[in-house]
Amino acid sequence: MGILIKNTLAILPAEDGHAVGHHDLYVEGADIVGIDEAPWGFVATETIDGTRRLTIPGLINAHTHTYMSMMRNVADDLSFPDWLFGTIEPIEDRLEPEDAYWASLLSQMEMIRTGTTCFNDQQMHIHQTTRAVRESGMRAVICRGLVGGEYDLTERRILEALEERDAFADCDRLTFRLGPHAPYSCGPDYLRGVAEVAKREGMGIHIHIAESQNESDNMWEQHHCTPVEYVRDAGIFEMPTIAAHCIRVNESDRQILAENGVSVVTNPASNMKLGNGFAPVPELVAAGINVCLGTDGAASNNAQNMFREMSLLALIHKGTHDTPQCISADEVLDMATRNGAAALELPTGSIEVGKKADLVLLDLDAPSLTPLNNAVAALSYSANSSEVDTVIIDGKVVMRGRELLTIDEERVRHEIARICERLGLA
Ligand code: NI
Repeated sequence: MGILIKNTLAILPAEDGHAVGHHDLYVEGADIVGIDEAPWGFVATETIDGTRRLTIPGLINAHTHTYMSMMRNVADDLSFPDWLFGTIEPIEDRLEPEDAYWASLLSQMEMIRTGTTCFNDQQMHIHQTTRAVRESGMRAVICRGLVGGEYDLTERRILEALEERDAFADCDRLTFRLGPHAPYSCGPDYLRGVAEVAKREGMGIHIHIAESQNESDNMWEQHHCTPVEYVRDAGIFEMPTIAAHCIRVNESDRQILAENGVSVVTNPASNMKLGNGFAPVPELVAAGINVCLGTDGAASNNAQNMFREMSLLALIHKGTHDTPQCISADEVLDMATRNGAAALELPTGSIEVGKKADLVLLDLDAPSLTPLNNAVAALSYSANSSEVDTVIIDGKVVMRGRELLTIDEERVRHEIARICERLGLA
């Protein structure tokens, strides 16, 4: 099974940024096997006309909670505690496992349609999400959400995470991490226990850190340290860690994150919408930290559209640093693609021979991309995701000409309406 994308404008990695040019891309199995030169014995079973298309590496949503999409627009303009403890958690308590399956499929519909091919998910209903991922064809890192005070090795949630990982050991598109929720929801002994399991099992970590001023103030009152120090002292950073938010991080925190090779996921829309501010991205980059980009869940964003996130990321820092040079369109594209792949330790995120064929083709006839002039700038400043035409993940076409091939969208809409009605959200 080979796919040839013929004569497409493509964004390839270059030493200092990206190189834009016309290429033929050869895909075989799950991989990119040739650029401009067909590998020996290559047979195209499908040829995609790349004329008037811009092919980019699939976007990587490095932090989300896909089960939350039925909670879109149900808790807005509230303080962070009122949002989380007053509204979202009571709804979560009433969810049935099957709800998470449909909500995850809805999130994946939205992500594929907006050019995302891979996501990093933290939640409790991991079996429902792996089911949904198996059907959608997306690439995903599934992280079992964990909260607690004392640690017990026989804890159901940990065992569930390990069982799910073992059940999908042969699936290339799925990897698993442990997801201790946050410093404020995990006691020190509990975090230490999770770190031990991660080390024993060779698993990475996905955690929220320093999301609000309130979190930092409480941490200081209770433990006389910053959230970053608290997580480091529990041994979490001894395993590959991806940390969401990192809004309240001082210079010493940034040094700790850099020294420990922790990747930071910034989530501009969610952070601003909850009135939490946003991560000091230029300063994190200056400290040598790998920064990537995420949407967070639909209950706080309220979209899972990485193009909108790229635009916000580029603009907010220019606006607050009083200089347009503190972050570039090239850096933003990296944060939405190869930096996410590096953080998640996945062989994707760039158009190179040997990388996974996770590719998004944009329609160059879209008014928002006309005239194109600078393709990299267009992705951060002009595109809105309506230009996404065709999506290939792991070498398989999952959307062709805006038609989603793997998900029954009408059925998902029907099931979500039913769930919202039952939960009293509609
Ligand atoms: Ni989150």
